[in-house]
Parts: sequence; C-alpha cells; structure tokens
Amino acid sequence: METMARKIETFLNIEPVAPELERAGIKKDALKGETAVVTGAASNVGLGFARAIAAAGGNVVIADINPKNGEEARRVINEENGRDAAIFVQCDITQEKDVKNLAEKAYEAFGKVDILINNAMNMRLNGPLLKSTVEELDQSYAISARGVMLAVKEFVPKMVERGHGVVTYSATQFHYCPPMVGGTIYTAGKAAATSLIMSLCNELGPAEETGVGVFCFVPAGVARVDFSKFPPPPPGAPKVDPKKFAMPGFPGMIPPETSGAAMVYCILNAAKLHGSGMIVYDVLRAMNYPFPVPETVKKPAGRRISDQELTMIFCNMGPGFFGLDG
Ligand SMILES: NC(=O)c1ccc[n+]([C@@H]2O[C@H](COP(=O)([O-])OP(=O)(O)OC[C@H]3O[C@@H](n4cnc5c(N)ncnc54)[C@H](O)[C@@H]3O)[C@@H](O)[C@H]2O)c1
Repeated sequence: METMARKIETFLNIEPVAPELERAGIKKDALKGETAVVTGAASNVGLGFARAIAAAGGNVVIADINPKNGEEARRVINEENGRDAAIFVQCDITQEKDVKNLAEKAYEAFGKVDILINNAMNMRLNGPLLKSTVEELDQSYAISARGVMLAVKEFVPKMVERGHGVVTYSATQFHYCPPMVGGTIYTAGKAAATSLIMSLCNELGPAEETGVGVFCFVPAGVARVDFSKFPPPPPGAPKVDPKKFAMPGFPGMIPPETSGAAMVYCILNAAKLHGSGMIVYDVLRAMNYPFPVPETVKKPAGRRISDQELTMIFCNMGPGFFGLDG
C-alpha cells in the first residue's frame, strides 16, 4: 500500500488513488487475477478507472488514441503498484483492425479479459445539432456506438464462454440534451450506446446464469479542476466562487480517483447491477463513502429533488413533456 499511496511525478493530472479505495472499504486484492480493458483510459474518468482497478489488484489494458498520455498512464500505474499491472495499446476504438489488435495484445499480455469498460469519447464532438457538421455526428456516433459494438463483439463472446465477465459503459445522465449542456450530437451518440448496452443485457440473459454482468455507469461531473488556472472574470462581471460550481449537492467536481473507487464497487456488484445503470453519486451513497455526498451539504430551503428525479424530469421525458395533466 505504501507504494500506491506515494505521489508519482507525472504530467498527468492525478492524486494518489489507494486512499480512495481504503476510504470506500475496498480491499487491495479485491480484483486480484482480473484483467480489465478500459477504453479512453489515458485521461480523467478512464484513467481513474484504470488506476483504481490496478490498485485493487487487477491488471489493466489502457486502450486510447492518445499515445503520449497512454504511455504515461501505463508508466504511472506500474510504478504506483510496483508490478507490471498495465499495458498500453494505442487504439482508435472506431477502427475494427485497431480493436482486433487491442484484443491480441490484451490476451498476449494477460491471457484473458474479464472486464470491459467502454469509456472512450472525444468531448470536442459535443456540439448542438444545427452548428455541428455531419462529419462530427458520424465521428461521435462512431466512438460511442460503433466503438462499443466492436469492443463488445471482440471481448464478450469469450466472457460468455468462460461464464465470467463484466461489461460497462460510461453513459450520460441525459437522453435528451438539456439547454445547459448543449451537446445534442454527443447525447444522441451516448443514447445509442446506452441502448446497445442495455439491450445486450437482454440478449445475454440473467447474470446469475451467464456469469456476465452488464450495466451503465454515469460519471456526471468527474474531473480535477485547477481553479487557480481559470482566467480572471471580465471587468464588472459579478463575482462567482468557482468552487461553488457544482453538480447537484456537490461543492465541486468528483475527483477521478473517487469515481474510480466507485467503478471498482460496481464491478464487484456487477451481477446485481445487470440491466441497470448507476450515477456516481448513488454509488458513493451505496458505498457509504465519506465524501461530501449531498446529505452532508447544507440543504437550501425547500425540498431538494434527487438526481433520479432530475434525470426523469429533464432528460428522459423530452422538453415537450409537462406531466400527464399538462
Ligand atoms: N467527466 C464527466 O463528468 C462525464 C459525465 C458523463 C459522461 N462521461 C463520459 O465518460 C467518458 C470519459 O469522460 P472524460 O471526461 O474522462 O473524457 P476525456 O475527454 O477526458 O477522456 C476521453 C479519452 O478517450 C480518448 N479517446 C478519444 N477518442 C478515442 C478513440 N476514437 N479511440 C480511443 N480512445 C479515444 C481520449 O484520448 C481520452 O483519453 C466519456 O465517454 C464521457 O462521455 C463523463
């Protein structure tokens, strides 16, 4: 544990991950012997997943299009854990040959793949419908939906054969894009991939029978933001404390390491989660995580609505839905 708690010198924006697992009560050998492929694992959310899985004793295959960050993520994970816990495979998840090469390298290094985390995305393809190009739509769909399909087809049959596996997807809260998010293209691709993943649950059948658990994980506000690097507000602008910028109930963003611990918890409970999804706040609550969960934040006057209700109201019903009487 000493090795893992040490802060590694790196240009990646990270903090030690082992204390997050300890806080969540996850044992350091909880995923011993398990191998995970994490797409988009060279930064932020995916990097948090990969580091947490390795810190919980697992092996990780970092599958990312970015070679500089991917190579560094591999170096960091191996140094943190004092063993060859990670390999990096450069991979454009939209390209079938790259996904085949990814599988080849993963099996060569670790012999098997038990966990597939579909997480890659290019957040720059997050535009409104009328201002996006057709190429942006195609690329966004290719990463979200095509990438998920290619990876699932490559890794899941062997999981079914072995009667052991976990498949998950970094989904979004929004099925219809609310105005404050503004990413219609992104949201539509995410909805397609969520549909693929949820339908896969039905195709496979109950996790108790197949040994393969399939679910969605919703990060929602996961990032380490360096507020000191924010540009100063224009003269005359009202003063806003950036630390108060928050997702519902949170006084800041959720660190990727904390989200990584939440993912490990979900992996360990994959059979129970099969056919459903969990938003990161609810995972933290389920883990009884000592983090500023909404309950610990001073409540404003009036009833707060839960994340689930928020999602139902703004995101699933569509902007034209005003209730059954409306
Ligand atoms: N950060 C959040 O709060 C949040 C909220 C909801 C959903 N998500 C989802 O979680 C995932 C990760 O989000 P993030 O904030 O870490 O994004 P990010 O942009 O920081 O990381 C995405 C990673 O995917 C890689 N990537 C991009 N295109 C690729 C491709 N074609 N093939 C392989 N890798 C590719 C990038 O190089 C990068 O390392 C995304 O799918 C995102 O939609 C994140």
